[in-house]
Amino acid sequence: MNDLMNKIKRLQGEKRAVIMAHYYQEPDIQDIADFVGDSLALAQKAMTTTADIIVLAGVHFMAETAKILNPSKKVLLPAPDAGCSLADSCPADVFGAFVKAHPGHTVVSYVNTTAAVKALTDIVCTSSNAVQIVESLPENEKIIFGPDRNLGNYIRSITHRDMLIWDGACHVHEEFSLEKILELKKQNPGAKVLAHPECPKPILIVSDHIGSTAALLSFSKTDNARTYIVATESGILHQMQKASPEKTFIPAPPKDSTCACNNCRYMKLVTLRKIHDCLENESPEIILDEELCDNAGRSIRRMIDISKKLKII
Ligand code: 13P
Ligand code: SF4
Repeated sequence: MNDLMNKIKRLQGEKRAVIMAHYYQEPDIQDIADFVGDSLALAQKAMTTTADIIVLAGVHFMAETAKILNPSKKVLLPAPDAGCSLADSCPADVFGAFVKAHPGHTVVSYVNTTAAVKALTDIVCTSSNAVQIVESLPENEKIIFGPDRNLGNYIRSITHRDMLIWDGACHVHEEFSLEKILELKKQNPGAKVLAHPECPKPILIVSDHIGSTAALLSFSKTDNARTYIVATESGILHQMQKASPEKTFIPAPPKDSTCACNNCRYMKLVTLRKIHDCLENESPEIILDEELCDNAGRSIRRMIDISKKLKII
């Protein structure tokens, strides 16, 4: 452990802080975290932690969700500008007008949204439980789903529900190249393609397994292939490689070979230095209006309750 890591650990002990990291964080951050998980697991952990401070090594909506679920805790976001292109693609005022224009619909929103959008939502979901959340609704229920069009279309293809889908997308998952994935498959006979449901349909069609980051990781541990092409943010490869050192994991390439588009430009804003500084200064902190917290909290808690009932968490 290097000097900076030691300082983080010392501060963490002094301040009774817990460090939670998403699977898309840099390997050194995943390794120093007390808990690494997908967005559903992070939300659940944040809700039940007994620490005084939560350091959320992830993006803004994840820290906001932690604060909403456990408002008495101080929640710190090391990189305050770590947003999310999906959350950005769904401004609350425009989404609110859309919901108003379509009365009689149940609003299901992906957790990758602002608290203001969650406050307009009936049930939140994550990629770990989206299909089950939609299936938990009565069969003839009309549904508005936002903001990810790819996840929405994927859920509709499985559930065959009546869904109005918002036209948002993630800059990472939109950029994978089908041609390059197929070429990689040819070069690596027997390799399996693992894809996050935020990928567009042509990528999902050629995939061997589709799931949330946690589901892809779990599949890679138990499946018997030797090589995997992973179509989601490249941070997840760290846990896959750690769990199965004998296997080969290849990040799915983006269309533009000059960009590192399979890195989330927001997730990668978090650094060990920023984690250290935010712990030392106890800032930047997530502060939310109480009424907004209550309204957004209702739709997140509904998701947690359904997930518990269905034994997803
Ligand atoms: P998970 O729900 O798999 O954690 O995904 C979150 C995310 O931001 C995907 O891009
Ligand atoms: Fe948002 Fe995409 Fe980054 Fe996930 S990978 S946090 S959906 S921008």
